[in-house]
Amino acid sequence: MANSKLLLAFSLHLVLALFVFDLANAQGLKLEFYKKSCPSAEYIIKKTTKDFISRAPTLAAPLLRMHFHDCFVRGCDGSVLLNSTSSNQAEKDAIPNQTLRGYQVIDAAKAALEKACPGVVSCADIVALVARDAVLEINGPFWSVPTGRRDGRVSIASEALTNLPAPFFNITQLIASFASKGLSVKDLVVLSGGHTIGIGHCTSFTNRLYNFTGRGDTDPSMDQNYIANLKNRCKPGDTTTFVQMDPGSSQKFDSSYYTVVGKRRGLFQSDAALLDDSTTRAYVQLSSNPSGSSTFLNDFEESMVKMGNIGVLTGSSGEIRKQCSRIN
Ligand code: HEM
Repeated sequence: MANSKLLLAFSLHLVLALFVFDLANAQGLKLEFYKKSCPSAEYIIKKTTKDFISRAPTLAAPLLRMHFHDCFVRGCDGSVLLNSTSSNQAEKDAIPNQTLRGYQVIDAAKAALEKACPGVVSCADIVALVARDAVLEINGPFWSVPTGRRDGRVSIASEALTNLPAPFFNITQLIASFASKGLSVKDLVVLSGGHTIGIGHCTSFTNRLYNFTGRGDTDPSMDQNYIANLKNRCKPGDTTTFVQMDPGSSQKFDSSYYTVVGKRRGLFQSDAALLDDSTTRAYVQLSSNPSGSSTFLNDFEESMVKMGNIGVLTGSSGEIRKQCSRIN
């Protein structure tokens, strides 16, 4: 009797282990993928990121954004890093990516990795790990990053335009954009919280200040005092000035983005739109009070792992680039 119980427990464990293994396989990525092939990989990436962010903390935001822009176009395959060629305009040169920064961090990490273990660590994994380490370096949340992504060989500027959500999207368009990548309405409102750090250029929101419906009007969904404030910063046609998305807290990874959105001071229409759906609105309200802060940080970790899984290339698909800005 005791023996058969033991056998049953053992079989259940085996089934569970196989199930977990299958799940890891189904997603294609696993934690510590480079443990044997390049044991120092994650340390090298962390150290490189730390070196840069300690000198230039404002780079954390564009590096987080780079991971998002990589994953939404052809999956997290490092396609955002490829340079244009004489016959192809790459994602990097599409309008939404022209304000990305921090490629030097990726290149420095790749150079160090190629010295330690040539041809092993993908640029796509570097982007994912650098984004995590950069956020952690400014005291933001930590999320685990399963690795094993491989690099794509294709990067097309027009695909960035069709796949990345635009700052003027309404809630229906935002939900559809995220759903097309397998992300939920909750992921949308949680990942939008990435706007707790960083800046936005005037060009991304001046239509809300000066010409919302083509009749020289302002966006009625934005706090009028904030509009006046932004008009002082951004004159019509200004393409170089930028403002903090979470004013006064744009270097701190906290939940105050939701307080800003709740006060109708979200910088983009896409931020403001989170008040137009009952699920996202409830989340904004919950997270704008201090007790919602830890929930947001936990949710962010979970949604980032999901985002990092979008359309990954694994196994023998794609390649491991030698240089992140060009295919082998
Ligand atoms: C929901 C749809 C989204 C839209 C429409 C959107 C749009 C934008 C725009 C227009 C900017 C300003 C770029 C500039 O003018 O320099 C920006 C900045 C930023 N976005 Fe998003 N974004 C979205 C989602 C996300 C997500 C999911 C993340 C990451 C989890 C993210 C992270 C960031 C960060 C960190 C910045 C600041 C970049 C910097 O300081 O240079 N965004 N976003």
